Amino acid sequence: MLIGIVGAGIMGTDIAHLAIENNYDVILHDIDESQLKHAYETITGRLDRYVEEKRLEQSQRGKIISLLKLHKNIKDLHKADIIIECIPENLECKKNVFKSLDAICKAGTILASNTSSLPITSIASATKRPEYVIGIHFMNPARAMRLVEIVGGIATTRETIESAKSFVKSLGKTPVESKDYPGFVLNRILMPMINEAIFTLYEGAASAETIDKTMKLGLNLPMGPLQLADLIGLDVVIAIIEELYEGFGDPKYRPCPLLKKYVEAGYLGKKTGRGFYSY
Ligand SMILES: NC(=O)c1ccc[n+]([C@@H]2O[C@H](COP(=O)([O-])OP(=O)(O)OC[C@H]3O[C@@H](n4cnc5c(N)ncnc54)[C@H](O)[C@@H]3O)[C@@H](O)[C@H]2O)c1
Repeated sequence: MLIGIVGAGIMGTDIAHLAIENNYDVILHDIDESQLKHAYETITGRLDRYVEEKRLEQSQRGKIISLLKLHKNIKDLHKADIIIECIPENLECKKNVFKSLDAICKAGTILASNTSSLPITSIASATKRPEYVIGIHFMNPARAMRLVEIVGGIATTRETIESAKSFVKSLGKTPVESKDYPGFVLNRILMPMINEAIFTLYEGAASAETIDKTMKLGLNLPMGPLQLADLIGLDVVIAIIEELYEGFGDPKYRPCPLLKKYVEAGYLGKKTGRGFYSY
């Protein structure tokens, strides 16, 4: 089975790595050549480390990496059986990509979005095959996290949902199904917590370190909410919170002004070297 991935950023890179490790042929596509190069270096760098640490044979490393192909032209995805779109969290951009994919892909190809919060039904409306459009929402980092949310839009068929679940299981992940409402389940609950942590910082109630320490030790979380926001990327965090705010029309999801300011300043977290912490 051939997997196509659109967008070679944080998520696209990790999902590509996960798929080749599980013996899938993968075509990774990005409009930005430097992102493709970075993705390739990230994956080969990791594999080299595993060889050095004797967790992987050199021959296996060669076999895994031979499954990955990088392509700058979206048309090269035409033979894929499943496509997972991982471009930024912007509805219009995603709809444009799905329109192009619909035009070039064979009948029956499943077109999935890794969106964290955007309506699958609306993304599907850009295609003539809404029954084959679905949300396959991997967590970050995709290779380490066990859960994947599966979200059907209004027209997605049961067959497409079951195929997506089987695919996710073949990657060693646990799928959970949810309805097509903003933020699905995970981000609907997680993002208000992150937003409240940012408000706590904004109001000077505690330092970033204290907020994270409180949540980590008090709730036995692996990392605090501000650390997690930096890992996700503050541009992604604000896009999800704004989607919840607009999607539900409820002021309880109002994004914290400090989050807006950080994003305006280009402090996007780990990926830009500065967010609530410096990297
Ligand atoms: N970062 C997270 O923690 C996380 C977790 C789960 C889901 N998601 C979702 O995954 C998606 C991607 O997030 P990310 O953090 O990987 O983003 P990112 O900014 O790291 O990467 C996005 C990539 O898409 C590329 N791109 C932009 N427009 C494109 C186009 N038209 N065609 C092809 N490539 C294009 C960019 O060059 C970039 O390489 C978003 O929908 C986000 O909500 C993110």
